[in-house]
Amino acid sequence: MRVLTALLIGLCGATLVAAASWQDIQQEYARPAYIDFPEGTTYSPQKAALGKMLFFDARLSGPQNLSCATCHNPSFGWESPTPRAKGARNQALARHTPTLENLAEATHFFWDGRASSLEEQARGPITHPMEMGSSMEEVVARLKQISGYRRYFRIAFPQEGLTQSTVLSALATYQRTLRSGWSPFDDWISGDEDAISETAKRGFDVFTGVGNCNSCHTGWAFTDHQFHNIGLLGEDIGRGAFDPNMRYRFKTPGLRNIALRAPYMHDGSLPSLRDVIEHYRHGGASQEGVSSDLSPLTDMTDNDITDLIAFLDSLTAYEPHVSAPSLPAN
Ligand code: HEC
Ligand code: HEC
Repeated sequence: MRVLTALLIGLCGATLVAAASWQDIQQEYARPAYIDFPEGTTYSPQKAALGKMLFFDARLSGPQNLSCATCHNPSFGWESPTPRAKGARNQALARHTPTLENLAEATHFFWDGRASSLEEQARGPITHPMEMGSSMEEVVARLKQISGYRRYFRIAFPQEGLTQSTVLSALATYQRTLRSGWSPFDDWISGDEDAISETAKRGFDVFTGVGNCNSCHTGWAFTDHQFHNIGLLGEDIGRGAFDPNMRYRFKTPGLRNIALRAPYMHDGSLPSLRDVIEHYRHGGASQEGVSSDLSPLTDMTDNDITDLIAFLDSLTAYEPHVSAPSLPAN
């Protein structure tokens, strides 16, 4: 009898532990119900709608030939399908276009984290000669000639109207609303066992087990928002440009909609998800005496790779639902 009781307690204990840990996992990967706007910024639908117009408007570039959306294309997970996109004067940029989804809670922007808010960041592409090749003065002067924009800025910013800082604020507000859509993975993690394949479920186990991917790609958006060196060889020292201890470190990108976002990495050097995982399997190279933060994944099998890709595919949203805005002609 005593043995039986002990056995029962043991079994119940095991069941409880298993149930709790699945709940922990569900909690860790559950999408937040709200977008957290940083202190000092506020959301209004008017600001976001205006920001969306500016984001899609090529008149923000010097030669009026490309908009933010040209490079951050919603059809490719808000990225460009080439290793390096070309700017308004047809020159290739130094790095690959990153996604803009799920950045509301981020505190560092660009692959090297050199901007500390989306407002500060937006000035970069507008004014960089190789990107949109304009200036904030030129943008404000040009938008002021368009009566539709004069009106929309009065509505969205009744106090300030159309200024350099309200242009940046509208763009930032819109970008904070860019959340990756609901995906099969979200259905599965919230309890629908049939939402993803058995292969994809095994892939999640690889991601959180043998692959150790979740040590950096954490939480519902799959990023720790930190900087790591994953041993990609090249001239670019990433965050090392600002801190000598951070050479070859780059910001961890989130992995939502990752299947739409090829090619991969800050240099766009890896064409497919299989190439990405093969890179991790080997652990990444050392450079100039700086070794990568990765160890080779010696236990990873070929089947694990197939499973991991199926899991990453399950992060693609069912429907992106992005419509282009109508822009004021004059
Ligand atoms: C010619 C292509 C191109 C255009 C146009 C462009 N971007 Fe980018 N964007 C990039 C590239 C490349 C990077 C990465 C640069 C780096 O890290 O040094 C980037 C980085 C960013 C980031 C940082 C993302 C992160 O995870 O840190 C944001 C935000 C952003 N761009 C917003 C915008 C906005 C807003 C506009 C329009 C005003 C715009 N971009 C126009 C190519 C472009
Ligand atoms: C040590 C932290 C770390 C670990 C562990 C890690 N990653 Fe990454 N991951 C990063 C960083 C940092 C980048 C960006 C590196 C760059 O561009 O230089 C990245 C980039 C990626 C990209 C490309 C994203 C893009 O926007 O181009 C994919 C896909 C990816 N990782 C998947 C994985 C998978 C799958 C695993 C497990 C096998 C994994 N990562 C393990 C930190 C990590």
